[in-house]
Amino acid sequence: MIKNIHLNRDIAQLILLQRIELLTPFLKRVRKTLGRYFFTNFASKYFISPKLIGTKYLEFMLSEYNLLKKNLNFDNKTILSIGGGMCGLELMINSNSKNCFFSIIEKNYISKKVTYGWDNENREAYNNLKLLEFFLINNGLDKRSFKIYNFDFDQFPEKKFDFIISLYSLDYHYDFNLYLDYFKKILNKDTKLILDTIRPDYFKKIFENVKIIDFMQNTVHKSKRVICSNFIL
Ligand SMILES: C[S@@+](CC[C@H](N)C(=O)[O-])C[C@H]1O[C@@H](n2cnc3c(N)ncnc32)[C@H](O)[C@@H]1O
Repeated sequence: MIKNIHLNRDIAQLILLQRIELLTPFLKRVRKTLGRYFFTNFASKYFISPKLIGTKYLEFMLSEYNLLKKNLNFDNKTILSIGGGMCGLELMINSNSKNCFFSIIEKNYISKKVTYGWDNENREAYNNLKLLEFFLINNGLDKRSFKIYNFDFDQFPEKKFDFIISLYSLDYHYDFNLYLDYFKKILNKDTKLILDTIRPDYFKKIFENVKIIDFMQNTVHKSKRVICSNFIL
């Protein structure tokens, strides 16, 4: 079990941008009064305590992990993470399970003005793949246990996965259809897809099984966390 997380200011900034519930009331006021550009490019980096963000992030990731663990066993599994952010969840899974391999698809830039709404064109991103790799290794993930793919430039891994995990990313910020053709190639009957969506009924049309594991009443979008399996397209 991870007890402490190692991070620097740049990584803490990314985590804050990825996990908006980490925003303090003070930072919310800064964003409101000085605008999103100032918040994204300056306040989110210099008006924060990296140590505090690390502690809170660890708490959030532990509770995400505990929810998933009730429903899934991660031992000896291949996992595809789509938009995993700094992948604190993957670190939790790794430290509590045997022999996992993580393929991670993420973007490699930070939008100038983060807004967090539904993003029709999927332009918004908040990651840095070099920092992500550094963070994962620095927090105990063996270099041989993961591979990072740049969404905009790399060919995606074409192999079968046991789990595809996308929290607050696919179908939360941007349309599931962006990945549909890719999923047609890689999903098999047993692959389980875990994501957050406001439209679980849509997934019932394309998967035989859709289980809601969290109703997430506290999130802005009132999304549901679902586990989908038996893809039928
Ligand atoms: C709100 S954050 C959530 C991060 C993480 N899943 C978490 O729960 O902390 C959304 C993430 O999706 C990433 N992202 C945006 N578009 C993406 C795409 N098309 N493919 C993969 N990741 C994407 C962003 O860079 C960002 O890190």
